[in-house]
Amino acid sequence: MHRYPFTNSIWRQHDRGTLHPPLDTSESTEVVVIGAGIAGLVCAYELQKRGKQVTLLEALEIGHGTTGHTTAKCSVQHGMIYHKLIRHFNEEIARLYYEFNSEALTYLKSQIDEGFDCDYTTEHSYLYATEPNDELSKELDAYRRLEIDGGEATDEVQNTLPFPITQALVVRDQAQFHPVKYLRELAERFVKLGGKVYERTRATDVSQGPRPIVTTSSGRRVQANQVVITTHYPFNDLRGLYVSRFLVERSYIVACEMTSASLKGMYLSVDEKPRSFRSYEEDGKAYLLIGGEAHTAGQVTDTRSRYDRLESDAQHHFEVKRATYRWSSQDLITLDRIPYVGQMFKREPDIFVATGFLKWGMTNGIGAGILLADRLTGRPNRFSELVSPLRKTVKPTDVTSFISTNLDTAAQFTKGVVDRALERRGVQDLQLDEGGVVQIGNQTKGVYRDLDNHCHIVNLTCTHLGCTVKWNNAERSWDCPCHGSRFDAKGAVLEGPATKPLPYSERDDL
Ligand code: FES
Repeated sequence: MHRYPFTNSIWRQHDRGTLHPPLDTSESTEVVVIGAGIAGLVCAYELQKRGKQVTLLEALEIGHGTTGHTTAKCSVQHGMIYHKLIRHFNEEIARLYYEFNSEALTYLKSQIDEGFDCDYTTEHSYLYATEPNDELSKELDAYRRLEIDGGEATDEVQNTLPFPITQALVVRDQAQFHPVKYLRELAERFVKLGGKVYERTRATDVSQGPRPIVTTSSGRRVQANQVVITTHYPFNDLRGLYVSRFLVERSYIVACEMTSASLKGMYLSVDEKPRSFRSYEEDGKAYLLIGGEAHTAGQVTDTRSRYDRLESDAQHHFEVKRATYRWSSQDLITLDRIPYVGQMFKREPDIFVATGFLKWGMTNGIGAGILLADRLTGRPNRFSELVSPLRKTVKPTDVTSFISTNLDTAAQFTKGVVDRALERRGVQDLQLDEGGVVQIGNQTKGVYRDLDNHCHIVNLTCTHLGCTVKWNNAERSWDCPCHGSRFDAKGAVLEGPATKPLPYSERDDL
């Protein structure tokens, strides 16, 4: 039978980093950082450099999360964000957001000068439209007001991209890199400074009060003066304060080997169906990375067609071979488009969080790591109020999003129950390499029939807050439409906020 390729991020494919051991004893330290993505590792490294004793816990492996599944553009050009921030807030807030990200990029550049090895290249960053788009002109005006180094670049892009465009903007001298190599560099240097890293160590609870205790899924405990949560979606949101403050989006990337010269620059379209382009060179081969096809997480089951559309676009416009790599990533978009970084709960001064980086986790993540390190070492940081999770500013447009997000979650909960009944079919109807909702005896289950004809059976109820998970046919995973938790075919957690696996069994007689 034709087997659809398994997904594999280009960044993870060539990762040969060391696997750090899981935590197998309980211990005490000054700071625990949970989550070894870009924000967690920058924070842990900076704290250790400033003399703190830090323990870093990672549920899976370094680079397994969102940082290992991005396009890895390090740019302050975050779509058309600046005129929107000016409109929703004011020029001062828009400027602060720009500077928060610019300083993160400067920090990264200084690390490259120190010798960080992560395939870093300086590139211009472009936004373009292929149809008339009034918003681009407003964004151009925002660049002028904020004195962003860039501006109109229509001719420039017209001469570079192999299809017609109507308008383009540029921000000069941004960067792209290999995100997993960057994480490995940070981890290696962190360990050399005396920091401790434990991989395959899933934190499941953080106690409240002074000297909080982090408990892991294997029952180990780490007590610390402060705890920093950088797990993408905060897993410890037991009071549900964050649940309704995000939109969770999933988007797709394919990498195709180019048969022509590598593409210079990083591109993002602002059309109805946005596309993102950059190139990456490795072992003498140039790849075109094309991204897009975003949707609300967990609400699409035929994800293979999303990859196919991207591959087809790449082949239509560029001289490329078939896709070599396919992967997807999940983004958390806050209601006012500004990340949440700082003290997590009002009454818990020792628990901190960094999350909600939109689709721009490279600069927002670095900025968040630096800010938290400043916060925990008593250094002033002028962006603290801007990104504080406890900020009060919610504009009317955000209220609309807030309501629709909540309604959507409630609707998904009900819809899931109905869909279970509607989609249910006989297990014999499942083909090899297919998953779905199946009736087994008098129970409704989720089943994936693998290529060896074994049936992997899971409960369909998400272990976070009980919504119904849906099969994702390209990733071979069970995805939750409510807050984006994901589970592999055997029910293990791939992505939170869930921390517990789906109950699982295997049968080869179905
Ligand atoms: Fe929240 Fe599933 S119910 S992620």
